[in-house]
Amino acid sequence: MSLDRIKSVAVIGAGDMGHGIAEVALLAGYPVTLYDINTAAVEKGAGRIFASLEKLAEKGKVPPAAVEQVRTSLLATTTDLQAAARQADLVIEAVPEVLDLKRKIFAQLDEFAPPHALLASNTSTMSITEIGAATKRPDKVLGLHFFNPAVLMKLVEVIRSQNTSDDTIQTGYAFAQKIGKVPVLVRRDTPGFIANRVTAASTALFQTVIESGEIEPEALDAFLMKVGMPMGPCELTDFVGIDIMHNVCRYFADQLHEDYAPAPHIVRMVEEGRLGKKSGQGYYDWSQGRPQIDLSKATQRFHPLLPIFVQINEATKLVEDGVCSVADVDVAMINSTGNPMGPMSIGRQISRWDLTEQLEKLAARYKKSIFAPTQRVREGGHKH
Ligand code: 3HC
Repeated sequence: MSLDRIKSVAVIGAGDMGHGIAEVALLAGYPVTLYDINTAAVEKGAGRIFASLEKLAEKGKVPPAAVEQVRTSLLATTTDLQAAARQADLVIEAVPEVLDLKRKIFAQLDEFAPPHALLASNTSTMSITEIGAATKRPDKVLGLHFFNPAVLMKLVEVIRSQNTSDDTIQTGYAFAQKIGKVPVLVRRDTPGFIANRVTAASTALFQTVIESGEIEPEALDAFLMKVGMPMGPCELTDFVGIDIMHNVCRYFADQLHEDYAPAPHIVRMVEEGRLGKKSGQGYYDWSQGRPQIDLSKATQRFHPLLPIFVQINEATKLVEDGVCSVADVDVAMINSTGNPMGPMSIGRQISRWDLTEQLEKLAARYKKSIFAPTQRVREGGHKH
């Protein structure tokens, strides 16, 4: 199916990601039907779209007429899945990260959506092949993975499952471009795709450092903000959701290696209902809005390149597996995080001997074999 045949989009799930994805499609002029399981959830999602659009209009980033058009004609809401899917040419699912739930929804979407429609999942980590297997059209199922906040973050990972057709991938890629995003093709269906998988290694490092009590969350965040990150890792975990991060880490642990497992303090926060921004408490207090990180508390005891070292190492595993190229890694990392540089271009300045030695030390110090240098790093293959 060509891009021209996408006239109407349905977004399933009106939460943090779903409302943002709908907003992006609306801004590109697509009529969007936004679905959630109850009226309160879907209306909350619609409210967040309007609040965001108004903010963007105030800043002159979108014309007021575009906001009016969304309000009067482009956005529809529903709590009826069949009504959402029946006229859609592209359905994007953004429901909670529970595989059985996603498979159930995909089976229903397969029944309700027109035969030509593409079915996309915004899953953060899960197998598009397994999700697509719940349908009778696995060739028309793909991943379209957005980043939070979807309206601001440029990256969309376009994920090919074992069964996705070339045609579906090309249309998904063209759609991501049409809505103003930077698409990166994920050539193989692998846990966490590119950005979340590369980040999994640095997340494991940050959580281990915090868990050990070596450095306080605010001291770590302040330090990394000072060296150029828009948000430190602890604030970002709160922003994305402690529960989401927990599930992402758990998924990697189950699929790849126990070293990626969420640290005990993350598990504790989930048990206590401290889910970050959405619950008002996480690493920080969000009850009065975004926490003010005190930059004067920045630690002096953290080497700023440590997260980069482990990210480069992790990325070489993806390159080795044929998931993406070295260049794709940086496109994905820059456009998903707002960081000014990607790990691989930083890595070009680091010799393979230094990188190998630092990774060996990290693996030994934190007893995590996932940090051990790959063969590609040992041979200098991280540079190209
Ligand atoms: N709509 C409209 N405007 C928004 C917005 C939204 N959804 N979200 C934030 N803004 C606005 C803010 O209101 C603010 O406006 P102001 O200047 O008028 O006050 C402006 O954007 C800038 O925001 P802030 O002042 O709060 O701070 P920043 O300059 O740091 O920008 C940020 C906020 C864009 C979120 C930035 O901190 C950032 O890029 N953080 C990193 C985000 C990131 O890494 N996302 C990826 C997460 S991982 C993921 O999603 C994958 C998943 O699978 C788990």
